[in-house]
Amino acid sequence: MDGQRRRAMAARWLLLLLLGVADCGGILHVHGQVDNLGFINLDCGLPESAAGYVAGLKYLIRAKFWYGNYDGLDRAPVFDLHVGVNYWTTVNISNANTPVIYEIITVVPGESVQVCLVNTGSGTPFISALDLRPLKNGLYPMANATQGLVLHTRANFGRDDGVILRYPDDPHDRFWIPMSKRAEWTEVSTDKKVQNIDDDSFDAPSAVMQTAITPVNSSSPVVFSWDAEPSTSNPDPGYVCILHFSELQPLPVNAVRQFYVTLNGQLWLGKGFTPQYLYTNAVFNSIPNHGYHQYNVSLNATANSTLPPILNALEIFSVLPTTGITTATQDVSAIAAIRGKYQVKKNWMGDPCVPKNFAWKGLGCSYAVSSPPSVTALNLSSSGLSGNLSSSFAGLKGLQYLICHAIISRAQFLTPCRSCRRSHF
Ligand SMILES: *[C@@H]1O[C@H](CO)[C@@H](O)[C@H](O)[C@H]1NC(C)=O
Ligand SMILES: *[C@@H]1O[C@H](CO)[C@@H](O)[C@H](O)[C@H]1NC(C)=O
Ligand SMILES: *[C@@H]1O[C@H](CO)[C@@H](O)[C@H](O)[C@H]1NC(C)=O
Ligand SMILES: *[C@@H]1O[C@H](CO)[C@@H](O)[C@H](O)[C@H]1NC(C)=O
Ligand SMILES: *[C@@H]1O[C@H](CO)[C@@H](O)[C@H](O)[C@H]1NC(C)=O
Ligand SMILES: *[C@@H]1O[C@H](CO)[C@@H](O)[C@H](O)[C@H]1NC(C)=O
Ligand SMILES: *[C@@H]1O[C@H](CO)[C@@H](O)[C@H](O)[C@H]1NC(C)=O
Ligand SMILES: *[C@@H]1O[C@H](CO)[C@@H](O)[C@H](O)[C@H]1NC(C)=O
Repeated sequence: MDGQRRRAMAARWLLLLLLGVADCGGILHVHGQVDNLGFINLDCGLPESAAGYVAGLKYLIRAKFWYGNYDGLDRAPVFDLHVGVNYWTTVNISNANTPVIYEIITVVPGESVQVCLVNTGSGTPFISALDLRPLKNGLYPMANATQGLVLHTRANFGRDDGVILRYPDDPHDRFWIPMSKRAEWTEVSTDKKVQNIDDDSFDAPSAVMQTAITPVNSSSPVVFSWDAEPSTSNPDPGYVCILHFSELQPLPVNAVRQFYVTLNGQLWLGKGFTPQYLYTNAVFNSIPNHGYHQYNVSLNATANSTLPPILNALEIFSVLPTTGITTATQDVSAIAAIRGKYQVKKNWMGDPCVPKNFAWKGLGCSYAVSSPPSVTALNLSSSGLSGNLSSSFAGLKGLQYLICHAIISRAQFLTPCRSCRRSHF
């Protein structure tokens, strides 16, 4: 499988850099524009290049795929999406005319982020749009250097007009999808602004919080569920569920709205929860839940409550383990310079050594436990090189073998390779 995947791997497509997509039979031009809100939008298909840089922060990354039978094959490809060196998801489009959107909240370790489309042998990858939204570091505390949050559901309750709320209603441009009303729910709403509490971890926007549902039968709980979606790379995904609550009605003195939040029968807070009037507050699990095929959430009124539970909005994420481990920085710079100088035609995109099964063709890497992966061997024999031996080779401190047209030289003795320069570079 690895061999097949590696052979088939064609499109590793880098955000913020102009790059080619070998298997697409052409160059994919990406135009990235940082607007005055700090948002970066890439519309794939526009000509010209532009580069921007991002700096070690948390981002919401959203990728859109709209097949529309653009290639006339009437067969939507299935391919993998990576963010940085980490597998993100498998893109599998069931309806050619419906755009599919994937979203992840992740900490970007370096100064740039790469989104790679990986051809797994089931058709040529493509992408329709890519959004990058910066988030304050305090938002979504569960998204950190070792785990990202892959969006499963982001639902807005109590809104029946089908309108998806996003920017400018949400300063972070999240998409809040209206949840269609169920017979057992009744809708409540307010025109008043719903405020965020200080140090809010989620910044749910007022427009989303202004509507909610409560059960028609005031003795009934509010229940909803979702199914776990295991995959080969993540057979037991962990889930994080964030419930956004605000009281929308000024309650008479004797009225109490208080309810328990349970997930698969487990009580979350250990006590009842009372939403604040016109202030948003969230109930969530910071440690992901594992090990179930199905997750049932239930909001049950406590014995003291005179009012049924309420629900304004919710988010469900699966947790993606991420690694910040990338090839040693000086090796990345050196190999990028070599790629540039010799116009290497090999499919050199993404991180040179990571993931291991997608290491660049012609490179040998060492994967020591104690230090970042580094380039130890370089085989440029089939690259049709010409020109002088680049000083960039000296930047590859761990290089032991440099193969130029089948002449193997110990890299420590770069002099012997000068013959290689004369005869073959
Ligand atoms: C893609 O989705 C279809 C329908 O949901 C499924 O039958 C197929 O196995 C999926 N393909 C891959 C490669 O996951
Ligand atoms: C990220 O969050 C998880 C879950 O709370 C925690 O186990 C892990 O140690 C955190 N990683 C870092 C780098 O803080
Ligand atoms: C309301 O729910 C309670 C508890 O689930 C049930 O006993 C009662 O019959 C319901 N009332 C109506 C009118 O449906
Ligand atoms: C979730 O609820 C459904 C329907 O009530 C039930 O059949 C299922 O067993 C529940 N699952 C878990 C894990 O509690
Ligand atoms: C909440 O309601 C659900 C569904 O009616 C029930 O299974 C569960 O036992 C209730 N939990 C509490 C704490 O009352
Ligand atoms: C219900 O109210 C009583 C009296 O005010 C209080 O002692 C008790 O803790 C309350 N129960 C809950 C679950 O809040
Ligand atoms: C170097 O690459 C060429 C072409 O891909 C290959 O034929 C050759 O065996 C490689 N040499 C070594 C020592 O790996
Ligand atoms: C190769 O290097 C020599 C000496 O530094 C320089 O004069 C020459 O122009 C270089 N040739 C190319 C093709 O870069």
